[in-house]
Amino acid sequence: MKSDSKPDVCVVGLGYIGLPTAAIVARAGCQVHGVDVTRSVVDTINRGEIHIEEVDLDGLVQGVVARGLLKASTEVAQADVFIIAVPTPFDANHAPDISYVLAAGEAVAKVLKAGDTVILESTSPVGTTEALRDLIARAARTSSARA
Ligand SMILES: NC(=O)c1ccc[n+]([C@@H]2O[C@H](COP(=O)([O-])OP(=O)(O)OC[C@H]3O[C@@H](n4cnc5c(N)ncnc54)[C@H](O)[C@@H]3O)[C@@H](O)[C@H]2O)c1
Repeated sequence: MKSDSKPDVCVVGLGYIGLPTAAIVARAGCQVHGVDVTRSVVDTINRGEIHIEEVDLDGLVQGVVARGLLKASTEVAQADVFIIAVPTPFDANHAPDISYVLAAGEAVAKVLKAGDTVILESTSPVGTTEALRDLIARAARTSSARA
């Protein structure tokens, strides 16, 4: 973490949960890297605009983008804290689909370093946190075997 003690934060998924979270963390003075797989979402946020309806969010996002505290991208970047806020819809059998969470975890695992924190914000069935932990541990083992 940097010496100013404010962690760099990467928020993965910039929808109804992720974008307000990213904007509030940025307003607190953290550098926030927001990630979304949808290019139009990223472009809208980088213009200081919003793609969702949420009271007072427009001014908040405009302010933190103008101050350079929130930047959006389609790619995950290194940070001290990762917040995953991607969808967990029900599939055709009414079971929660955690594939978005696992895809986000794969992306985060590529840039994680020792001591980072990963927060799973998505509504998830029991066992998802462990699945995410195992995925990250596997990725770390694979990358250290390659090094
Ligand atoms: N909206 C709510 O009021 C609410 C309340 C409580 C919990 N939740 C939970 O929070 C989670 C997110 O919900 P939401 O309403 O913010 O969803 P949302 O659909 O508004 O936003 C999710 C965003 O994630 C992006 N995304 C999907 N896969 C991605 C990936 N691999 N990497 C990066 N971005 C990706 C999508 O493009 C989308 O913009 C869900 O699990 C939901 O159940 C939502």
